[in-house]
Amino acid sequence: MPPSRYPPPLSLRCVAASCPIPITIMLLLVLYFSGGSGSPTASSPRYTQTGVYFNSTGTAAYASATLYNPAAAPTPNYFDSVPPGYTSPQAPAPLNRTSLNPSPRWDAAYTKARAYLSNWTLEEKVQLATGAGWQIGRCLGNIPAIPSQKFPGLCLQDSPLGVRLADYVSAFPAGINVASTFDKDLMYARGYAMGEEFKGKGANVALGPATNMGRVAAGGRNWESFGGDPYLSGWATEMTVKGMQDAGVQAVVKHYVGNEVERKREMSSSNIDDRTLREIYVHPFLRAVQSDVVSVMASYNLINGSWASQNAQTLNQILKTDLGFQGYVMSDWQGTHSGVLAAINGLDMTMPGDIVFNSGDSYFGYNLTAAVRNGSVSTARLEDMAERILAGWFLVGQDEGYPAVNFDSFRRLSTLNNSHVDVRADHDVVIREIGAASTVLLKNVNSTLPLKRPRSIFLAGSDLAPSPRGPNGFEDRGGLNGTLAMGWGSGTAEFPYLVDPLTAISYQARHDRSLLDWHFDDWDLKTLQARAQTAQADLVLVGVHSDSGEEYITYDGNVGDRNNLSAWNNGDNVVLAAANVSSNVVVIVHSVGPMDMEKWIEHPNVTAVLWAGLPGQESGNSLVDVLYGAYSPSGRLPYTIAKRREDYPADIDYVPVRGPPYQPQVNYTEGLFIDYRHFQERKITPRYPFGFGLSYTKFNYTNLLITPLTQTSNIQEHHSRNVHHAGASGGNTTQVGSSLTPYLQDPFYHVSIDVQNVGNITGCEVPQLYLSFPASTGEPPKVLRDFSKVKLWPWDAKRVEWTLSRYDLSIWDVAAQRWKIPDGEMGVVVGKDSADEGVKGMFCPGQC
Ligand code: BGC
Repeated sequence: MPPSRYPPPLSLRCVAASCPIPITIMLLLVLYFSGGSGSPTASSPRYTQTGVYFNSTGTAAYASATLYNPAAAPTPNYFDSVPPGYTSPQAPAPLNRTSLNPSPRWDAAYTKARAYLSNWTLEEKVQLATGAGWQIGRCLGNIPAIPSQKFPGLCLQDSPLGVRLADYVSAFPAGINVASTFDKDLMYARGYAMGEEFKGKGANVALGPATNMGRVAAGGRNWESFGGDPYLSGWATEMTVKGMQDAGVQAVVKHYVGNEVERKREMSSSNIDDRTLREIYVHPFLRAVQSDVVSVMASYNLINGSWASQNAQTLNQILKTDLGFQGYVMSDWQGTHSGVLAAINGLDMTMPGDIVFNSGDSYFGYNLTAAVRNGSVSTARLEDMAERILAGWFLVGQDEGYPAVNFDSFRRLSTLNNSHVDVRADHDVVIREIGAASTVLLKNVNSTLPLKRPRSIFLAGSDLAPSPRGPNGFEDRGGLNGTLAMGWGSGTAEFPYLVDPLTAISYQARHDRSLLDWHFDDWDLKTLQARAQTAQADLVLVGVHSDSGEEYITYDGNVGDRNNLSAWNNGDNVVLAAANVSSNVVVIVHSVGPMDMEKWIEHPNVTAVLWAGLPGQESGNSLVDVLYGAYSPSGRLPYTIAKRREDYPADIDYVPVRGPPYQPQVNYTEGLFIDYRHFQERKITPRYPFGFGLSYTKFNYTNLLITPLTQTSNIQEHHSRNVHHAGASGGNTTQVGSSLTPYLQDPFYHVSIDVQNVGNITGCEVPQLYLSFPASTGEPPKVLRDFSKVKLWPWDAKRVEWTLSRYDLSIWDVAAQRWKIPDGEMGVVVGKDSADEGVKGMFCPGQC
């Protein structure tokens, strides 16, 4: 069940029984790195309204929709070279929002929105839907204030891991790391803390979370999202959205849908069959809608040949009808391709407003006004757009007491525009915990870890060191020459500081009276070996990394997507050089996604591997917590790490970045078989399976029970039972909300299991619930449905409980266009990871 409060019980969650770092030292570290004592709070400076900004000379300017000059007729030529693509099957916009699942919250918000809008002019409603234009206003996207209606405007700001382009904000762990905590409380806590920061800065709309799937291992933005499984992504999406919106900010779940590669993302067509689309790629968005997400960002790409921002099938039919989404759809930045068609097919807001950056025109703006006047777009549809946008604003309570914008993304030196409000509060605590909780222990020979006061430590690999350029030395983090703690692109924030591994390990070494020496030149391996030998170190810690990001930045030849899956900066050779001179090499990996470790993973001198992902500003502290056992490792891989790149089900088509093909076809031919689903289907042994992660202790699972909630009797382990139900029906898909009816979504089965800590160290375990559908369905051998994180003292046991809905037990019936529980026996496996045989049971939710 989702936690209902914040902060959740963080501090003692997976903290080991005996903490080797005295609390005082920890406190001192926190104080030291946060630059002072006490928790700074957001003060209340004289905020100006959204929409009013000051240019570099300090003159107040006003951003408004009248910016668009009708004389400058829009002549879009940006995609002239792109074949227009056909338009998706037409599906009408569901204007009558009478939902099958009436949400009292949305109903109340709509009542307010309708009342508020009652005297708005057509132009004012159009203005709500039209961004002011690129860099016009203080935020990445700006809906100008409408003084006549006392509407303060909207500030839309990146990113999924914190407030972008602002100071005195936190740099949270990336989405991929919070996914690898497999901890719903931490997912919520991170969302809530980020929401507080957006609110403190006066940003109404946070452009996150991102929840695209890790379909290809080298996908440049995979790290912004939640990995390779729709249910893990779904949980992370739900908890993040809830956290953010509970804190008062509007969440935007993105990029809807099929934006899984960066290369030519603005012109490629993701071709996805209906069942795969619903079961894999739409699923996390369904969970966002279930969590009352306010907004959805349409992706850049086309879907089955039709732009995502004007795709009637994905917007009007799936999102707004089947899922009954009540909020508004915005375009990605410059991702709108038409006015009338986009409006009719489901787009509610164009961002940043102009057709291309600084073009001074818009597909909406005066063009939408004209289209409504001449009947091309109905008044009812415009009304619907405006209601959706304002209902979202009311839903999260932004109509009262919301701070005005107090920073400026583009004029950061302007003293008039930037109040430098410190919004970080004590978020470093949750950041540090997520960093530790997301760290995955992949290898640990003879209990090398946790470290026990080593006498002498040698560090190697530039990943353990601070960057000589500082943590923000590359714009939007588009470069790497020190430790890696986030990827690059719009999904970033400025680090307020970055605790690198060297610094954190130094403090620990001082405490332990360890000797500490290092060599961070990744290319001078002879010196590395000589120095490591001279140090006579008990262990060599080697840091390696692999980076990627968004397409608009190319670094070292990587156009967003990675060109290869190997360690950057000679990483493999650094590990091998260390392993040739030391019999105790512990490798730390900071990576945006799966990385090839084959050159050294089985080397007998590589005794332990910690996979730290992208932990954010507290990186070194989080690492030390796990390395030395203050925090019991309980992170799990949110994707499969293969032995060979060819083992993955899909890869990037490295088409030329410039020139043809102008509309690359990205065919999702692997269908439902992404990530571990493919490896299991093809019986390919990965290096490490999805969901994998070791612990410093051991756990046992027993007593699996599967109980139909409509029946009273229990079903025992390995015991099958015929329970006859009428088969799940999603109802008529032309009805709004048919995929989220209580019939489909209410708890239908109860699954529980005993988990016991059978080792002698306190630790956290992550039992994972997988289903095996009847073979006739064509589903992958196993699919994840739920997971829990439980903390257990030595020999302590807990009962872990989950519920499954009819939807969870269904497949998408393409012919019938509805969710359906298949006939036949279904298997349940509760295991430690996707490959674990675990504890099994059978049941029959359909007809047997
Ligand atoms: C990205 C979005 C981002 C937007 C605004 C786009 O390039 O795809 O994720 O929110 O820019 O920065």
